Amino acid sequence: MQFQTNDLEQHWMPFTANREFKADPRIVVGGNGVYFTDHKGGKLIDGSSGLFCCPLGHGRTEIAEAVYQQLLENDYASPFMTSTPGTFELANRVARITPDPINHVFFVNSGSESIDTALKMVMAYHRARGEAQRTRFVSRERAYHGVNIGGVSLAGMVRNRETFTSVMPNVVVIRHTWSGDELFVRGQPEHGAELADDLARHCETYGGSTIAAVFVEPVAGSTGTLVPPKGYLERLRAICDEHGILLVFDEVITGFGRLGHAFASQAFDVTPDIMTMAKALTNGAQPMGAVAVRDEVYETITEAAPENAIEFFHGYTYSGHPAACAAGIAVQKIYEEENIFDKAAQLSSYFLDGLFSLRDLDCIKDIRGYGLMGGVELKAKGNPGAIGTQVQKDLFWNGMHVKFTGDTGIVAPPFISEKAHIDEMMDKLRSTLENL
Ligand SMILES: Cc1ncc(COP(=O)(O)O)c(C=O)c1O
Repeated sequence: MQFQTNDLEQHWMPFTANREFKADPRIVVGGNGVYFTDHKGGKLIDGSSGLFCCPLGHGRTEIAEAVYQQLLENDYASPFMTSTPGTFELANRVARITPDPINHVFFVNSGSESIDTALKMVMAYHRARGEAQRTRFVSRERAYHGVNIGGVSLAGMVRNRETFTSVMPNVVVIRHTWSGDELFVRGQPEHGAELADDLARHCETYGGSTIAAVFVEPVAGSTGTLVPPKGYLERLRAICDEHGILLVFDEVITGFGRLGHAFASQAFDVTPDIMTMAKALTNGAQPMGAVAVRDEVYETITEAAPENAIEFFHGYTYSGHPAACAAGIAVQKIYEEENIFDKAAQLSSYFLDGLFSLRDLDCIKDIRGYGLMGGVELKAKGNPGAIGTQVQKDLFWNGMHVKFTGDTGIVAPPFISEKAHIDEMMDKLRSTLENL
């Protein structure tokens, strides 16, 4: 497909330097397997699975056909007080791969909506148990939980919140887990489990019985793959249990195999109370997210309502949209039939070997990684983020897509990548970075 770049002004692009981009556009016009095509006909390898949402790469016909057939059969019906078959099938499939006893699934349209929905579930749960005094939420520095008001309230990334000051009150943060003392750590750092005790300190300061929930990304993704130190998530779980606090894992990036298991929860063997997810739920082919909860959370909220009354006053016009469910079902079938999460696990050490082989480059400050996800943090030059923006652009014209946040590139290959694709990604990273 050809694309004329002479009329770009009307589109206000998200999380983009609009003026810079419109002067030097980078438009993706095609996607197939692990490659994109740009508007000038160039080929790019997809080093971040889009935005971590396309483990199966691009252009899978089974997904496209499932969506097409669904739209012909039934394009839309109200999800309030009626439903469509795909919602139940997809919920069953998701519940099959979440850890027990997390077996109830609520559909939304994005990761950001999954966070707002989880916040409301937490509030509804405590209220149903007669503990409505639990009004305080705990989040973490360097957290990204999407861009809706709930997620921004929990956010730990300064640029995402400094403009938007009127957010939810009563959020306190614990420290992030990257100290900078241990660099180039592959997998979980040995030290730092004690950082979880920040939560215990909040319990001492505010009273554990006033805290409703703790939200964490098991591996902080957007701030550059901050892998939890050994014992850290276990310690958070124990403190939550001690004080009746709900533990929410934001698995929007880590869900559906990124760490070599269905969810981070299984990779680290720590079961939260609530899990948020999106992205790879549909391989990015349709906008969709979900919140999965322990049976007890669902039952407590449901049983507290009068018989035949709506139990949870929340939902979206497009919750469980038929086309999104069709994509989700097709994707989950492929994950299962092709053992895609195992494939990710098998490719991990080859990928991490490649990534850590870049450590000799002068411009690199740190590399971190787990599963098929790695952060390559560059030494800052000028304003924070300046070098990252430049390198993301250089990489694009050198034939590779990588998502940068600030000065850290987040490399997350599609799970269908062959070793030769990993080699190509590392070659492109090296040839771009060694010229800095
Ligand atoms: C951990 C995490 N939570 C939430 C979100 C928000 O998801 P969305 O962009 O689909 O709203 C993201 C997006 O990258 C994410 O990484």
